[in-house]
Amino acid sequence: MDGTATQSWTKSDWRAKPRVQMPDYTDPQALASVETRLAAYPPLVFAGEARRLKAELAAAARGEAFLLQGGDCAESFAQFSADNIRDTFKVMLQMAMVLTYGAKVPVVKIGRMAGQFAKPRSAPTEVVDGVELPSYRGDIINDLDFTPEARIPNPAKMLEAYTQAAATLNLLRAFSTGGFADIHRVHSWTLGFTDGDDAAKYRDIANRIQDSLDFMTAAGLTSETNHELSTVDFYTSHEALLLEYEEALCRLDSTSGKWLAGSGHMIWIGDRTRQPDGAHVEFARGVQNPIGLKCGPSMETDDLKRLMSTLNPGNEAGRLTLIARFGAGKVADHLPRLIETVKSEGANVLWVCDPMHGNTIKSATGYKTRPFQSVLQEVQEFFAIHRAQGTIPGGVHFEMTGQDVTECTGGVRAVSEEDLSSRYHTACDPRLNASQSLELAFLVAEELSASRDALRAAG
Ligand code: PEP
Ligand code: CO
Repeated sequence: MDGTATQSWTKSDWRAKPRVQMPDYTDPQALASVETRLAAYPPLVFAGEARRLKAELAAAARGEAFLLQGGDCAESFAQFSADNIRDTFKVMLQMAMVLTYGAKVPVVKIGRMAGQFAKPRSAPTEVVDGVELPSYRGDIINDLDFTPEARIPNPAKMLEAYTQAAATLNLLRAFSTGGFADIHRVHSWTLGFTDGDDAAKYRDIANRIQDSLDFMTAAGLTSETNHELSTVDFYTSHEALLLEYEEALCRLDSTSGKWLAGSGHMIWIGDRTRQPDGAHVEFARGVQNPIGLKCGPSMETDDLKRLMSTLNPGNEAGRLTLIARFGAGKVADHLPRLIETVKSEGANVLWVCDPMHGNTIKSATGYKTRPFQSVLQEVQEFFAIHRAQGTIPGGVHFEMTGQDVTECTGGVRAVSEEDLSSRYHTACDPRLNASQSLELAFLVAEELSASRDALRAAG
């Protein structure tokens, strides 16, 4: 039985529901004309891909794979470049390799890419030097510049976002299948600036993999004979926040007769927009894509019950991913009660840890940052609780970049609060840099191996 809708669902039903975190466009005609154009454009992804991803996420929920989801907090028009996309992709390949090697488990790779443009904000306005303006809501909605004009929501930006998403996905597809991701190039994925301890550990793994590959080549297994060695599956995801954009890219899949969000393979619902009766849940429930649901400290067990039955009425495996984001020191207050709820409902879900969004603080130097130590700690707490509950920690969700930024403090190449100003480039939340991402991957690999051993021992 399938998780998705309900014969009666239509892609514009969300319009009748209460909406939060969405812009009030001032020119309805301009908005309608953008929606009409987008609705005529090709979808970015196809239903068969979303179904394949769902099957892979179902495997992760059973402990037979592990999800690695990562990318920018907010993709930016100004920082759009092939190098940026390549470097993020490369770091994700490196992290996936550390996990596959360390925990002996296939890694499902999903970028927060090719559509991650719209941002929920904790306050509707921002005050700088006594001047108050509407908040920046992501490049698909308005501009980061602190001027009244820049902050007016402009529907035409949806067309630019679509174009950037299409070009990004095109490059990702080329990297995934065109030779770049061939396992035999494992050494060439090493980024120039990863020269710390982790780089040495990474090179050691790369050497061992090279050894195994040499053996396999001698035994006649090469990229030419084995497609799996030369390509990777790489999927895209974003928060489905701007529902005019999502509706315009929604398509009926002729194979299954079901609707597909054509904007990305997986979409998720943010912690601020998951009202069970709200517009965002209404949209997501009707599309067949895998759906993520952010779960922060304010997630009540009754809400979770309702959300699980609304979003996955058929209890389909791989359909629903619960992304826990409580903050270091708070996981034990919330995760066990939500795990109990899932158990008592007999619900099929994939549990994923987002150790970023519960750990944002303001540094003494005025920057929004995240202490790397808190990020590590939340990951450890997530794994420990799943071990204690006998449940499966199925993945991790990070804000990261392949660039050598200074946005989160700490890590082996310690970024201090004073360093933050040096290369602080994020359009929204602070991201892990390449070195911090790799360091985290080693920790996750250790935790994951320990969890897998514990589950095996428990039979
Ligand atoms: C995000 O993932 O960028 C985000 C805003 O997350 P959350 O909804 O969990 O706060
Ligand atoms: Co964010």
